[in-house]
Amino acid sequence: MIKKTVLIISSSLRVGSNSEILAHEAEKGAIEAGNKVEFITLKDRNIQFCRGCLACQKLGKCVLQDDMNTLIDKVQKSDVLIFATPIYYYEMSGQLKTFLDRCNPLFSKENNFKDVYLITTLYDETSGKSERAKAGLEGWIECFAQARLAGLLDCGGINEPKEASEHKDALKKAYDLGKNI
Ligand SMILES: Cc1cc2nc3c(=O)[nH]c(=O)nc-3n(C[C@H](O)[C@H](O)[C@H](O)COP(=O)(O)O)c2cc1C
Repeated sequence: MIKKTVLIISSSLRVGSNSEILAHEAEKGAIEAGNKVEFITLKDRNIQFCRGCLACQKLGKCVLQDDMNTLIDKVQKSDVLIFATPIYYYEMSGQLKTFLDRCNPLFSKENNFKDVYLITTLYDETSGKSERAKAGLEGWIECFAQARLAGLLDCGGINEPKEASEHKDALKKAYDLGKNI
């Protein structure tokens, strides 16, 4: 029996992305636990910046003709969202921020998603260095009454492409995150 519909959004555009490697581990765990999982990478997606016109609040969809209306539909219908991002200047990536801004058509709608998770990778090993990215995502979540931040997996000390594959501890934590949603 399918438990939950899970949407994973990987925002790094880098080949050999560390955050994407961890997002795939979370995917494995979530599938293993019997959930229906879809993995989306923002690589090769046409996603423009939000223009702030707010036409979406009247039309129920964005007027920009790009890939976002399809993706917004998937966000709305999922029970669980897992966002993965590299840390750029101690914040989430611009790609993820743009994606969140472009979800504005959902602001006035009924949405399924409740539990939202964030996976980050960064060079800095000091703990708590993804706090600004977490706070940014919490700002988005705050605008959706039914949603909550259910978990943050903050993986410091990971920098070179594909380096995450050698971090057994981070891989296990990502798998467990997916398994336990
Ligand atoms: C533009 C840019 C900004 C970055 N800023 C930070 C930073 O502020 N702190 C840090 O520890 N690492 C920083 N990094 C390193 C990345 O967060 C790190 O390499 C991460 O593992 C990349 O994840 P990805 O492979 O999924 O893209 C930065 C990298 C880039 C390209």
